[in-house]
Amino acid sequence: MRILVTGGAGYIGSHTCVELLSAGHEVVVVDSLANSSAVALTRVEKIAGRSLFFRQVDINEKAALKSVFDEFAFDSVIHFAGLKAVGESVEQPLYYYRNNFCGTVNLLEVMESYAVRRMVFSSSATVYGEADSVPIPEQSSLSATNPYGRSKLMIEEMLGDLVRARPNWNIDVLRYFNPVGAHESGLIGEDPAGIPNNLMPFIAQVAVGKLDRLNVFGEDWETPDGTGVRDYIHVVDLAKGHLCALETVKETGGLRVYNLGTGTGSSVHEVRKAFEKAAARAIPFEVLGRRPGDVAQCFADVSKVERELGWKATYDLDAMCQDAWRWQSLNPDGYSKV
Ligand code: NAD
Ligand code: WQD
Repeated sequence: MRILVTGGAGYIGSHTCVELLSAGHEVVVVDSLANSSAVALTRVEKIAGRSLFFRQVDINEKAALKSVFDEFAFDSVIHFAGLKAVGESVEQPLYYYRNNFCGTVNLLEVMESYAVRRMVFSSSATVYGEADSVPIPEQSSLSATNPYGRSKLMIEEMLGDLVRARPNWNIDVLRYFNPVGAHESGLIGEDPAGIPNNLMPFIAQVAVGKLDRLNVFGEDWETPDGTGVRDYIHVVDLAKGHLCALETVKETGGLRVYNLGTGTGSSVHEVRKAFEKAAARAIPFEVLGRRPGDVAQCFADVSKVERELGWKATYDLDAMCQDAWRWQSLNPDGYSKV
């Protein structure tokens, strides 16, 4: 298949490009490089031993996007492009709605005009808001607690409307839980701008000496050790989930929704200790108050994706930490010092 990967230079996109190329697909990446580096794509080619096509295009630029569709006939689109910083979305909601929501409208319009009606969309467990119970199945009630999450929810609802109006569209919505880790080669990984917001990259930067200590956001949650529990999933497992979705496409069209997680929750202290083992060093920490907007526990019910796509996560927390550490220690400044 020839596949357009929007946001393919980013963290999850680059790992997915490796899997797509390795499975023999032709890959065209469109990325504005708003939150990524083209170096990631050279590394992807090195790992896969195959080339891809890259066009530096913002999906909000319709004419530029169309020119990519003029150049290549696509079988399918995997749509990763989007901004993802929750705090920034609270500060700059219109930027997030323009980029994530309007960008997706633009992309869908261009796809329709070129009769490309197959999309795999990156959604997030954030659409479950404050879930009533765990593990969380796909049919749980949905809500948003910030503009980033609302932009994902709005896109999901728009995709539902589109498929109802145009039943020949084929759309998979994949709700990722907490993607972590890196490719085992140590060549590609997560490269956050500035101080990381998320737990695993923050711990990795403490381990490599760029940050002094981990701030643990609350030890008074209703969880076994009092710290927040999340469903961390290795980014390579996540990438493979996209291939499973592509390869099990329904003939009839329609919209499918799947959780991509391991089905198991880990606490902040469990992640910290697993990372200490992987990096063979202590991770100093301090317990602070709760972070606004956090929930106690969030982990996936993965029975639907296992049953229908035959996909199951394979990497455990130790492997996630070992791979994250290899990436961080080999590339202490990410892609910027290459
Ligand atoms: P990332 O920032 O590393 O990758 C996103 C890529 O999209 C970047 O390369 C960025 O430059 C590009 N991009 C952003 N806006 C664009 C635009 N208008 N036009 C073209 N390119 C644009 O993030 P990621 O972690 O790889 O996330 C990929 C997708 O998965 C995002 O949609 C994100 O919301 C979603 N997601 C991520 C997580 C997570 O924790 N990483 C969890 C759930 C869902
Ligand atoms: C995990 C746990 C924190 C940092 C976020 C987004 C979500 C999704 C995935 C895109 C929590 C604790 C964290 C730190 C800490 N992204 N923590 N110290 O909040 O589950 O999800 O990323 O869709 O939308 O909200 O992930 O890694 O930030 O936090 O104690 O420095 O680690 O309180 O319990 P989160 P996270």
